[in-house]
This record gives sequence, structure tokens and C-alpha cells, in this order.
Amino acid sequence: MSSKSEILKVLEAQKGKSVSGEELATHVGVSRTAIWKAINSLKADGYDIKAVTNKGYMLEDLNDILSVEGILPFVEDAKFIEKLQIFDVLESTNITAKKLGIDGAPSGTIIIANEQTSGRGRMGRKFYSPPNTGLYMSCMLRPSVSADDCVLITTATSVAVCRAIEGLTKRKPKIKWVNDIFLDGKKVCGILTEAVTDFESGSIECVVVGIGINVDTVDFPTEIQNIAGGIYAERTGKISRNQLAARVICELSNIENMIKSHDYIEEYKKRSMVLGKEVRIISGKEEIVDVVDIDQNGGLVIKHKDGEVTVLRTGEVSVRLTNT
Ligand code: BTN
Repeated sequence: MSSKSEILKVLEAQKGKSVSGEELATHVGVSRTAIWKAINSLKADGYDIKAVTNKGYMLEDLNDILSVEGILPFVEDAKFIEKLQIFDVLESTNITAKKLGIDGAPSGTIIIANEQTSGRGRMGRKFYSPPNTGLYMSCMLRPSVSADDCVLITTATSVAVCRAIEGLTKRKPKIKWVNDIFLDGKKVCGILTEAVTDFESGSIECVVVGIGINVDTVDFPTEIQNIAGGIYAERTGKISRNQLAARVICELSNIENMIKSHDYIEEYKKRSMVLGKEVRIISGKEEIVDVVDIDQNGGLVIKHKDGEVTVLRTGEVSVRLTNT
């Protein structure tokens, strides 16, 4: 680890507090001049670091630059972020994670970007991914669950992300089937799961689960202004994207167990925005149906107007008959 990275690690761990130059120099094992140079370099990277006379250096609370060093203080175990890579700009974290998956990267590789130039959503849509305000991450897994159970990765991830958001904000996120996460009627997170299949055997080589969270995004494009929202109405300075990333990563670390036990389905149902509601199916043939249950595989059990009950495995529904 470079001394700049070591210094950032200390400053992130002590965010909002002063750390003396001497303490930093002893900790990192370099001269005070080297510390000063590294601090200047961090400032050039955009970190707001105050030099306080007789006290040392302080990383201001409102700094919210995504970094491994910034995530580290919030993970239960450093092993959770051994396979984490952070980028400033990517086309799409899912694309990068898939490439790494094809190139043989280990299961559990996580890619985070501060901005995506071509964020992908479900059904061929785009996912609005401006810089500095959102968390865009993809986790590449080589699951030891069956191909059928792979679909559960998406539903389990939505529960994991809800737990992370609720743990930090104390707000109660809801899930709109299949995997959109809502707070106060606004979509704050979307999840896109993509599989890479082995052409010859047809088996699943790896699965990439992409999570896009609007953290303090406010300036949404007109077409999604009424639907999308951020998890914070305004920045509190208390919860950074690094902290949220750490929480999501910790929750995701349990995903294979969640899937094997199917336990989380009960929580998924409790958080559902569609269970017990009349919804409109908006993918394929449009139809208004009643949602009577969510099965153990995350399928939507729907009752058609003629009384027939079937299970919807993929697609999209609208909760209000108008435009949700
Ligand atoms: C949706 O709402 O339709 C799903 C959106 C998924 C967005 C995330 S952001 C990180 C990852 N990279 C992408 O290009 N998409 C997913």
C-alpha cells in the first residue's frame, strides 16, 4: 500500500477529527515532508483536508469520495473488500464485472464506479448514473446454487439492499416486484442481474448483479422526475456513500446462504409493494390482475379476472393503474 493510501486510510477512519502530522508520520513510517506532499496530492484528488495549527490534518465530514480506504472503516471484516475495485468513471459496472468474470476473476469480485456513462437498466432501459451522488456497483458471483436458483439472486439482493438502506437511514424501503426499491413512493434503487453462460455446455459461468442506488441524486431527467428519488432528501453529512457501500457489501456477503435457505422470502413479502394489490402487467400482454402471493422462487402468484391463478416469473408490473 502506498503512503498516500495509508494516510487516506487513517484520515478516513478518523474523519471529522484532527490527526497530527507526527502521528501520521509514525503510523505510515515516512517523514513529515512526505506526509505534507501526500496530503497535497489527496487535496488535488478532491479531498477537503484542513490543516489545523498545532492539531494536524482533518478530513472534513462532508467528503464523499468513494475509495477502498473510505469503505474499510465500515466493514466488519477487511476480507469483504479484498476483491473490490473502485473506478471514477465506467461505461457500466456490469460490463466491467462481466469482462472480469469471463477473464477468470474470483467469485465475489465487486466493481464500484462514481459515475457510469452508459448505466444499464432492465428491459433495455438506461440507468441514470451521474457522478458524485449515487452508488453504482456490481458483484460478480460464481454461485454454487442451481441455475434455477440463480434467479433468486435478484430477489435476495433486493432484500439485502433494503436491509442496508434501513440499517443506515432507519427508513423502511419497499420492493416493487421484481427488484425495484422504493422509499416514500419514489424509486431509489434498481437491480439488474445478468448471467454469462458457457456457450458449449450452456451452464452458467458467472452471474453479475448490478445495483444502482440514488443516494443524494436530485436532478433527475424529466422523464423519470416523478418516479425516481434519492435515499436522502438532503445530505446529512453523517452517512457517506462509502458507508452505504460497506453496508451493502456486508449484506451481500451472506447472499448464497440467503438463497439456499429461502428464508428471506418472508421478508421480501413483508417489504412487497404489490402483494395483495391489483396491478397491471406492463411487459408482454397488458392485463390487470390481483397479486395473491409471492412463491418460494420469488414468482408473482397472480389471479386473473377470470379466476385463473398463474405464476409470473419475469416481467414488470405497475402498482397504480395509472403510471407507477
Ligand atoms: C433497473 O432499474 O432497471 C435496474 C438498474 C440497475 C442499475 C445498476 S447501476 C450498477 C450496475 N451497472 C449497470 O450498468 N447497471 C447496474
